[in-house]
Amino acid sequence: MNSNEKFYLIVGGTSGIGLATTKLLIESGHRVMIIGRSEDKLDNAIKYIDSPNLLVQSFDVCNTSEILPFVEHIVTNNGKLSGLIYAAGYEETLPLGRMKPDSVERIHKTNLFGAIEFTRVCAKKKHYNNGFSVVFLSSVMGQLGEPGKISYCSTKAALQGAAKAMAVELAPKGIRVNTVSPGVVETPMSQKLFEALDENAIARIKSKHPLGLGTPEDIANAIEFLISNKSRWITGSNLVIDGGYSIQ
Ligand SMILES: NC(=O)c1ccc[n+]([C@@H]2O[C@H](COP(=O)([O-])OP(=O)(O)OC[C@H]3O[C@@H](n4cnc5c(N)ncnc54)[C@H](OP(=O)(O)O)[C@@H]3O)[C@@H](O)[C@H]2O)c1
Repeated sequence: MNSNEKFYLIVGGTSGIGLATTKLLIESGHRVMIIGRSEDKLDNAIKYIDSPNLLVQSFDVCNTSEILPFVEHIVTNNGKLSGLIYAAGYEETLPLGRMKPDSVERIHKTNLFGAIEFTRVCAKKKHYNNGFSVVFLSSVMGQLGEPGKISYCSTKAALQGAAKAMAVELAPKGIRVNTVSPGVVETPMSQKLFEALDENAIARIKSKHPLGLGTPEDIANAIEFLISNKSRWITGSNLVIDGGYSIQ
């Protein structure tokens, strides 16, 4: 173990932005535990990253009451955490009239409740090291509106509010909490969105990004900064990374 090595937990680290962040942190010499539901995605991540510093665990963040024993198990077996990145999430496009309470609950459990519960549990003294930093994946949709994105916008706005309140409450413990808000980034999630759209709609989305669509690495670089001590005086902030989408 090198003296600068840190141990990070990435919830939703098996795909897209979370996976790119995992690769970056491991290349920087850190140990990373990634979590996702799909065993196939976990296996693919192991093959792709190919490092003894990568640890994986299958877990569904909707099992809210299991998060405490799950984190206790991780820390007991691997040591205290230096940072938590919450990237688990999904996008749902449904007009208000077709929304069902079950799906509203499920997206809030995945995108929001899991983030709050993982942070609550990780912020217990026995679970974190000095300088512990938390980054939530919000979205430009946390500040903007779009038809059919009621649940998604709601969860992403709430993450920003939760991060600010946590940042103030946890500052006396030296814990920082920030959000990043990407525009459209090319990942399996946005791929799925594009598959449901025609060519004109895709071209319209692309044209709204003056610098083009983002890559997972564009977001991973910012997360690496926010999770590290280089951002030690930044807390409760929301970093918009959207190629100019939301300045127009
Ligand atoms: N891509 C974009 O354009 C974009 C833009 C703005 C914000 N974001 C946000 O950035 C985050 C990452 O997005 P992405 O595009 O990288 O998505 P992605 O490629 O679909 O990856 C999502 C990750 O979350 C995990 N996950 C989903 N539901 C889970 C659950 N119930 N329990 C445990 N893990 C779960 C997935 O693994 P399993 O499926 O195996 O569980 C996967 O590892 C999301 O919060 C998203 O809302 C993305």
